[in-house]
Amino acid sequence: MRILLAGDTHGNIGHVRRVLDAAAGEGIERVFQLGDFGYWEHEPNGVRFLDEAHRSARARGVTLYFLDGNHDKSGLIHERYGDRPDEEGFLSVRGRIRYAPRGHTWEWDGVRFLAFGGARSVDKDWRLQEEARRHQKAARKENYRLAAGRPAEHVADHAGTLWFPEEEATDEDAERVIAAAGRVDILLTHDKPRATSPGTDRKDLDICHPNQDRVQRIVDALGPELAAHGHLHHRYTELLSGPNGDTVVEGLAADPSVSWDVPGYRVADSWLGLGIGDD
Ligand SMILES: [Fe+2]
Ligand SMILES: [Fe+2]
Repeated sequence: MRILLAGDTHGNIGHVRRVLDAAAGEGIERVFQLGDFGYWEHEPNGVRFLDEAHRSARARGVTLYFLDGNHDKSGLIHERYGDRPDEEGFLSVRGRIRYAPRGHTWEWDGVRFLAFGGARSVDKDWRLQEEARRHQKAARKENYRLAAGRPAEHVADHAGTLWFPEEEATDEDAERVIAAAGRVDILLTHDKPRATSPGTDRKDLDICHPNQDRVQRIVDALGPELAAHGHLHHRYTELLSGPNGDTVVEGLAADPSVSWDVPGYRVADSWLGLGIGDD
């Protein structure tokens, strides 16, 4: 079996189609996207993105799996689809779009996978301020309406529209996953393991390190042969030697809309075909 790993897509449907084309072109039926997919179903654009991604995947005979990046509103996935796990435990967001909850494990062709999404947003403060600014603006508009004698309308508070409190994993998440995972061959995450040195890394900040430490603890405890992640928007490969064996780390690039200033960016670095199992 072959699968295609994909880096951040950020709701860019043109890029998602490009990734799906890359998979279909190689006869690959499963794409696994490593977070910052663009799950924004609280917005009309987000609904459209999911519908179009589903149709595009179906047209190519591909199923698109994803885990949660810091910019995916994963709490809403659990709210809406938590009671709809498919036969492998993924949450079915659309027929051809499946979400791997944080800590989910599964097996494809005898290879054991673990998904562990989440990361800290470097622009968290800006996002919270912007939510507050939008709320204040809506409240001012409502005051104008009321002053003009118009009936009262609901004022949206905008909390949870730009920043999602579930974005970062917790230490308890990591411990629970380590205790429950068993053997893991391939670890899929959004964030990087702390110990890699990708060269280009705008997320090498104190506020980002605790989550990277959680990913690193999982790598050290479970010793997967491969760990793949997105989030840095930068392609690199590195070998980590840990207490439970060597792990090849693959960091994938992102869609072009956020990559104009990434040194050496090539769009084809935002996906990676992977042979697993016997063939
Ligand atoms: Fe991203
Ligand atoms: Fe991210």
